[in-house]
Amino acid sequence: MSQLRIEHISKWFGRQQVLHDISFTFQPGQVNMIIGPSGCGKTVLLKCIVGLITPEAGRVFFGNVDFLQANPESRRMILQNLGMLFQSSALFDSMTVEENVAFPLRVFTQQSESEIRERVAYCLERVGLAGTQEKYPAQISGGMKRRVGLARAIALNPKYLFCDEPNSGLDPLTARRIDELIQELTEEFETTTVVVTHDLKSVVDMGQRILFLYEGRSEWQGDKTDMLRDPHALPANLRAFLEASGLMRDW
Ligand SMILES: Nc1ncnc2c1ncn2[C@@H]1O[C@H](COP(=O)(O)OP(=O)(O)OP(=O)(O)O)[C@@H](O)[C@H]1O
Ligand SMILES: [Mg+2]
Repeated sequence: MSQLRIEHISKWFGRQQVLHDISFTFQPGQVNMIIGPSGCGKTVLLKCIVGLITPEAGRVFFGNVDFLQANPESRRMILQNLGMLFQSSALFDSMTVEENVAFPLRVFTQQSESEIRERVAYCLERVGLAGTQEKYPAQISGGMKRRVGLARAIALNPKYLFCDEPNSGLDPLTARRIDELIQELTEEFETTTVVVTHDLKSVVDMGQRILFLYEGRSEWQGDKTDMLRDPHALPANLRAFLEASGLMRDW
């Protein structure tokens, strides 16, 4: 599997620098997590990686290909291998569940209507939503919308799966189910998965490789087991972030 790597990413909005020289190597076939407090730059970094925002400096490598410099053909190849679940699902409200999940298949493949219908049914079944094809986003719950978003993200059988706050706004049980689903999909399809979250429970449950951002800077990176093993070795901001979660009362 091709490794995903970012090098020296910096991003400004006007005079505000929101990302400062961030480098990180994502572990293939695992759940990688970008964590940090609200406003630290997690979503902007994720959007830089998938090409929705162009950073002023830095490189994003999918294998040996520099995504930002790639020619249109290579860019399209990479985009075909990306699945993205946006913060708050971002479904098309005027389309049914079936049309939402079919969307990337129509844009990126030449599949026939019956092939598309079959693939959509498979993806919906995979996320536990078999038979919901005809519903509109307004007719389903928040947790179901996330699942539809995930079904759409895996429609193209991606090598890379990006999820921005996949369980925010959901009750704790539904949140855990979404986490489990992301973990299952990662293992089953061997995707390199990147999850942005400020939910420490998600990190403890499914995180493997961790990037901690603080005010747009990479303050710590490493394996979850190292992060949880010795809190005293961590930078103060990460420690405070972990302690504020309430999961670390024993420290
Ligand atoms: N399009 C934009 N124009 C100007 N500033 C922006 C834009 N998008 C994000 N920012 C700023 O960049 C900073 C980082 O935002 P970002 O959305 O990445 O935070 P986040 O870590 O994802 O926060 P949250 O956990 O609340 O989602 C914030 O100060 C935000 O105001
Ligand atoms: Mg965000």
